[in-house]
Amino acid sequence: MPISPDQKMELLVSLCKRRGFVYPDSDIYGGFANAFDYGPYGVELKNNIRDAWWKMFVHGREDVVGVDTPIIQHPKIWEASGHVAGFSDPLVEDKKTHKRYRLDHLLEVAGADITGFTFEQMAEKMRELQLKSPDGNPLSEPKQFNLMFKTGVGVSEDTASIAYLRPETAAGMFTTWRDIRDTMRKKLPFGIAQVGRAFRNEITPGNFIFRTREFEQMEIEYFVKPEDAPRAFEMWLAEQKAWVQDVLKLDPSRVVYREIPEADRAFYSSRSVDTEYLYPFGQKELYGLANRGAHDLSRHQEFSGEKLEWFDQETGERFLPHVVEPTWGLSRTVLAVLCEHLDIDEAEAVGGGEEPRMVLRLPPRLAPVKAAVLPLQKKDGLADIGRELVASLRRAGLVVEYDESGSIGKRYRRQDEIGTPWCFTVDYQTKEDGTVTVRDRDNMTQERVKKEEVAGWIAAKLVA
Ligand code: GAP
Repeated sequence: MPISPDQKMELLVSLCKRRGFVYPDSDIYGGFANAFDYGPYGVELKNNIRDAWWKMFVHGREDVVGVDTPIIQHPKIWEASGHVAGFSDPLVEDKKTHKRYRLDHLLEVAGADITGFTFEQMAEKMRELQLKSPDGNPLSEPKQFNLMFKTGVGVSEDTASIAYLRPETAAGMFTTWRDIRDTMRKKLPFGIAQVGRAFRNEITPGNFIFRTREFEQMEIEYFVKPEDAPRAFEMWLAEQKAWVQDVLKLDPSRVVYREIPEADRAFYSSRSVDTEYLYPFGQKELYGLANRGAHDLSRHQEFSGEKLEWFDQETGERFLPHVVEPTWGLSRTVLAVLCEHLDIDEAEAVGGGEEPRMVLRLPPRLAPVKAAVLPLQKKDGLADIGRELVASLRRAGLVVEYDESGSIGKRYRRQDEIGTPWCFTVDYQTKEDGTVTVRDRDNMTQERVKKEEVAGWIAAKLVA
């Protein structure tokens, strides 16, 4: 009998804590719901994904430039973008426990098809179904709940003016659009990219790091001539697919590219395709892609009073470019990559008892640690040779670990659990001929490599 999706998730969460990928946040204060700390290996994995993304979509292209803009920007930006008026979820409260829920989620769980439903239609459906809370209690009337976190900017509380923590990184690309246009000598089409934190006061966060109040996004706003938007959309869809397959190595059978029906699209989007991944807890959104037309630039032009048009030198035309927006959630990518590549020995898992053998078969370029050096014994100079090897690999810019304690089997197993692709063992033959054994995480084969060639050997594997 295979392990259940719930068991898989439990094992993943426990491995993440035990091996320093993700810890529950504020644990010494009893925890803080739905907030997480990335531990030493989690932060390496997250940074490797972020760097691979930046390399592919910014450094790897002539037509994309990067920016880094503040989390707290001018509050008018969020009026222009429509977030102050309309960035909300339908909220209901359990009248007894006072727990809050998203009405659309409760309706979906109750089996109602609410595709394209307005807020009023959801409220009507709730009454029709006499919907109860998950604890079986009556629910309050629904209300719209704005997801933006408010804060105050100013020296004292009474004079502070309201500002918001950004709910998406995208706004920074629209506010820098004029300066990039005027200083970067780019021609249409071109994109502006940013990676950073976004904040949403999610009513029902959950599923580990899938939906949290604070998360990271990697986004591109790609500015095009209006007639080129459909072509740019196809190009970015192909790029998102390439990223998922070639970099993350997600099994295509677990990825769905879902065309979003008009009724479910944001009002400014003329086409949206979501990349969905089959997590153990269900098929859920991983990334988005939208054709936002001229919505953002026209609103920012209106609210700021600045001219944001493009002047086409060849035709003498002035127009507002249209925008195609591919967006990637970084925190969700970490979770998808962990779910995809965690290989659990199912026979041991269903056998009960201790935790089963688990191997994190991460693509090597994403792995937090690229190699471990393990002397067979501490004595007879093997440890010294191992330490020298580790120092040389660090000088070569590689993230490596040295481990001399415990049986070699246990040391391999620990490295397997954090996804280290290669373990180099220093043994007695090393003293004789200067070679070390390299053990491959995935096929468990062993070969001998000269100590001096290890850095080059790893580098060649990483680009292969
Ligand atoms: N600029 C467009 C935008 O923000 P979105 O679909 O709201 O679109 C983009 O968010 C991506 O950000 C999602 O596809 C998802 O990967 C990630 N994301 C959104 N809300 C999240 C949350 N509460 N926790 C973790 N990731 C989230």
